[in-house]
Amino acid sequence: MKPLFTALIAAGAAMAFSVAAQAEADGEAVYNQACMACHMTGAAGAPIKGNKEAWEPRIEKGIDTLYEHSINGFNAMPPKGGNMSLSDEEVQAAVDFMVEAVE
Ligand code: HEC
Repeated sequence: MKPLFTALIAAGAAMAFSVAAQAEADGEAVYNQACMACHMTGAAGAPIKGNKEAWEPRIEKGIDTLYEHSINGFNAMPPKGGNMSLSDEEVQAAVDFMVEAVE
């Protein structure tokens, strides 16, 4: 009986941990859900993730400008990628995810 009890405690602790981890915005998950459709294909002129040439002039504008443009929109870039249910933090995490791919 005792080993089972210990295993249950361990499983409970693991679950509590994964719930806590999810509370932090997951840039990759947000990207896959809300940004990839344009930023993987270059649709409408979107800078493609991982394309250094496309991202360098944008990164030069500063990360705050990129956050601002992603949250409020910029030309053909819709506010929050068109997914208004995302929090600002989630959108920023997705920007970080794309910027980190070319740095
Ligand atoms: C409907 C297509 C579309 C979706 C979805 C989309 N984008 Fe964009 N995004 C664009 C286009 C087009 C541009 C280029 C705009 C321009 O430079 O005129 C752009 C540009 C950007 C830029 C650069 C802005 C700048 O100042 O140069 C960032 C950062 C960005 N998108 C982040 C995101 C994030 C984060 C998401 C997901 C939450 C997302 N985008 C979803 C189309 C999209």
